[in-house]
Amino acid sequence: MKRDLVSIIDVKDDLKELVRLAIDMKGEQKDGLQMSPFNGKVLGMIFEKPSLRTRVSFDVGFTQMGGTALYLSPKEIQIGERESTYDVAKVLSRFVDMIMYRAFDSKNVEELARHADIPVINGLDNVEHPCQAVADFMTMTERKGDLKGLKLAWVGDGNNVLHSLMLGGAILGMNVTAACPEGFEPDEGIVKKAKRIGEDTGTRVEITGSPEEAVEEADVIYADTWVSMGDEEEKEKRLEIFRPYQVNMGLFNKAKGDAIFMHCLPAHRGQEVTDEVMDHKRSAVFDQAENRMHAQKAIMIRLAGLR
Ligand code: CP
Ligand code: NVA
Repeated sequence: MKRDLVSIIDVKDDLKELVRLAIDMKGEQKDGLQMSPFNGKVLGMIFEKPSLRTRVSFDVGFTQMGGTALYLSPKEIQIGERESTYDVAKVLSRFVDMIMYRAFDSKNVEELARHADIPVINGLDNVEHPCQAVADFMTMTERKGDLKGLKLAWVGDGNNVLHSLMLGGAILGMNVTAACPEGFEPDEGIVKKAKRIGEDTGTRVEITGSPEEAVEEADVIYADTWVSMGDEEEKEKRLEIFRPYQVNMGLFNKAKGDAIFMHCLPAHRGQEVTDEVMDHKRSAVFDQAENRMHAQKAIMIRLAGLR
């Protein structure tokens, strides 16, 4: 049966192995030992929203493995408008070997995956960003070793990136505490799911309103934009509400002395994070960006059943 990555839960049973594979493949590429398992294969990339990292890392990564990546803009495909998601899934399955889809609505990603005969990878939707989370756990493992028992503190909006990190953290045995303003907490259903997984792995998932409380004893502090793609209408209101949730040196210093700072990027310097923190020697943001490519190569290899 074909495998998809719509939610990080789809790789629940092999997330740790996937992170390991990504680290191994990064090493192989740097040592010039890369193979071309996707020779003659095509990756279709559908984007309904802008992207730097996701677009470039998928394209470059798939090309490095011998394949060709095809960028499909929203104007061309118009999923659900020009034709149904079902028909797009069936047609694309006849042309390409794998699909990466960045969408506004998670239901479209689920539907495309359900009907496509080839693997579908969620390149971010309104609910999750699983590729980001795999790359982030890879970066954390590179910096911190075994993640079991470590504390990840999220400061800001209860959004898609947090959802994937929270679920993935619980799977890998990391404690996750998110500090979010009232009304901007993560989805209740996802929090419940993460807590349930945490019961099996012996980890805590907590939501608080206080950034100081979240970062106490934290090994990793994570920030993301206060205004995600699709939330632009609320921009002014959000910038006001989120102001106390800025990760600055005052807050960074309240975490463990060897805590690292992470951000999925794009960052808004001076809003959710200051220059000092972004450019700090314990900031991992550009490793995270690079690791998107290695992680996604591992994801594609794994979904294709090649390793
Ligand atoms: N972090 C991330 O997904 O970046 P892009 O939106 O630029 O792809
Ligand atoms: N939460 C952000 C992540 C961007 C990579 C958004 O959805 O816009």
